[in-house]
Amino acid sequence: MCGIVGYVGHREATPILLEGLRRLEYRGYDSAGLAVAHRGRLRVTKAAVRVAGLRDLVGTPTQATSGIAHTRWATHGEPTDANAHPHTDTSGRIAVVHNGIIENSERLRAELTANGVTFTSDTDTEALAHLIAAALAAGAASLEDAVRTTLRRVEGAYGLVVLDARKPGELVAARNGSPLVIGVGEDETLVASDVAALVRHTQRVVYLEDGELATLTATDFRTSTRDARTIDKEPTTVELTAEDYDLGNWSDFMHKEIHEQPAAVSRALLGRLDDQFATARLGGIEVTARDVHAIRRVKFLGCGSAYYAAQLGAGLMEELARLPADAEPASEFRYRNPVIDSDTLFIAVSQSGETLDTLAAVRELERKGGRLLGVVNVVGSALARACGNGIFLHAGPEVAVASTKAVTNMAVSFAMLGLLFGRVRDLSFADGQRIVEGLRALPGQIAEVLDAEPEIAEVAKRYADAQHMFFTGRVRGWPVAREGAQKLKEISYLHAEAYQASELKHGPLALIDKSMPTVAVIPGDELVAKNIATVEEIKARGGPVIAVTSADLPDGLADAVIRVPRTELELNPILLTLPLQLFAYHVALTLGRDIDKPRNLAKSVTVE
Ligand code: G6P
Repeated sequence: MCGIVGYVGHREATPILLEGLRRLEYRGYDSAGLAVAHRGRLRVTKAAVRVAGLRDLVGTPTQATSGIAHTRWATHGEPTDANAHPHTDTSGRIAVVHNGIIENSERLRAELTANGVTFTSDTDTEALAHLIAAALAAGAASLEDAVRTTLRRVEGAYGLVVLDARKPGELVAARNGSPLVIGVGEDETLVASDVAALVRHTQRVVYLEDGELATLTATDFRTSTRDARTIDKEPTTVELTAEDYDLGNWSDFMHKEIHEQPAAVSRALLGRLDDQFATARLGGIEVTARDVHAIRRVKFLGCGSAYYAAQLGAGLMEELARLPADAEPASEFRYRNPVIDSDTLFIAVSQSGETLDTLAAVRELERKGGRLLGVVNVVGSALARACGNGIFLHAGPEVAVASTKAVTNMAVSFAMLGLLFGRVRDLSFADGQRIVEGLRALPGQIAEVLDAEPEIAEVAKRYADAQHMFFTGRVRGWPVAREGAQKLKEISYLHAEAYQASELKHGPLALIDKSMPTVAVIPGDELVAKNIATVEEIKARGGPVIAVTSADLPDGLADAVIRVPRTELELNPILLTLPLQLFAYHVALTLGRDIDKPRNLAKSVTVE
């Protein structure tokens, strides 16, 4: 959500900024802009266009070697040209790009207006440009001081970068709630909201923490706190390279990422399965066997698909470790004054590690002294750092808004955690071995499911003209149905609703007719007969049924059957999720949707 890139160095800034914005497109945005400092003046180009459109508007680049750029996801004010970032002060000296929300912006705007400032946008950000310029005019010793003075007056969340036309050799960045990472190159320094925009130029990065500022020059960076205390930070090396973010021969990232799943799951399992004790080895978690015995309950927290994966994780935890477990949206948890027991383990789940609601839930847990563990994909992300101990997903960069390989790796990680806890508690050696073998077989079985893509695509095409769809499942199939409905909603814009198969008779059956297809998720478990009965009830009311199953169903039961290989019962949901990704993908493709960047959605939601 919103993307920032800043550059100060020896090369022409404009192409580097545009390329950086292109790498951040996946975060979701509705307008774009950039500012460079050239011959003592700012040159600002911004509009409600895609990054490709911005490139056309920029025309011939200047020789400027510093600048800032932004992709905006509208919060305060419509997605118009005027509201696009960067924003400048009246004299055109200061340019600001900003992610987050300034909560007291109305008051700041009113005050500035009373002092004769005319605003050219409806944004909360513009006030920052005017305030910084005013602080410089009032004698601030440096741009950093002017930014610091301004931030003392600001309430809310921000990641921001400031450029001063009169001092183009430096940029000032500040973070409070919205991610910023500095890239340290050879005679050039970059700053961006995520490493995707940096790795083409450098692998050496420095993460800014909340409440920190940084001044960047081509050859140096200096970090400090809001109250001007210097903080020394050493760059760390990220393993990602530009190729990790390339599409290669794929037509979109979602398709690429779906097909990366066998490799992604293999990476998640690498070195983590222990045959000697039939358990899992998870080096990143600081939980001893004694700690496991002291845990009485496990609560998973996440948002969106991470929440549905968490629900699947809760099921795995109960089955494998026989620990009561449930999942709750982090966005709800943080606001309901949650009870934090000392014997509950809280597990925060996030692909990006930047989702504001999940981070806020973690902060609330920290404040109340809850036991915490993170399950995160992005190394170095705010959540990974806040949790300190946890499991990395090793899914590799996920660019498509709709999460696929990260969700699968979340489920696999929960299975390993359940196995580890189970083997400390009641799970037998033989059952442990069964799960270890089941996990080991997953990459091959996932590849088998993906090989069935042509048949799944054919079913998707057949049902793509439906206006609404039901997704049903019970027990192990229920979180799968929820995630399947989520995928379809996100990328095809069809109305999809998940329901427990067992609850169908208590209301939604009234909606069934021939125009309402149902995707019935049927694991090959002890509930097959119940699931078959549900399908028959739907069929009896004329509803078309697409069964997604690892069971042997009676011939002719469903209108279409998508089969997945048999696996250990507990691991069934992991495999059943995959055809639903392909189903949603092919419905969206048939409908001509912008699959990687669905309307109104952002990859990481860094505001409330
Ligand atoms: C957004 C995305 C979803 C994602 C959710 C949680 O809503 O559109 O695809 O599942 O955020 O993201 P996280 O990075 O915390 O897993």
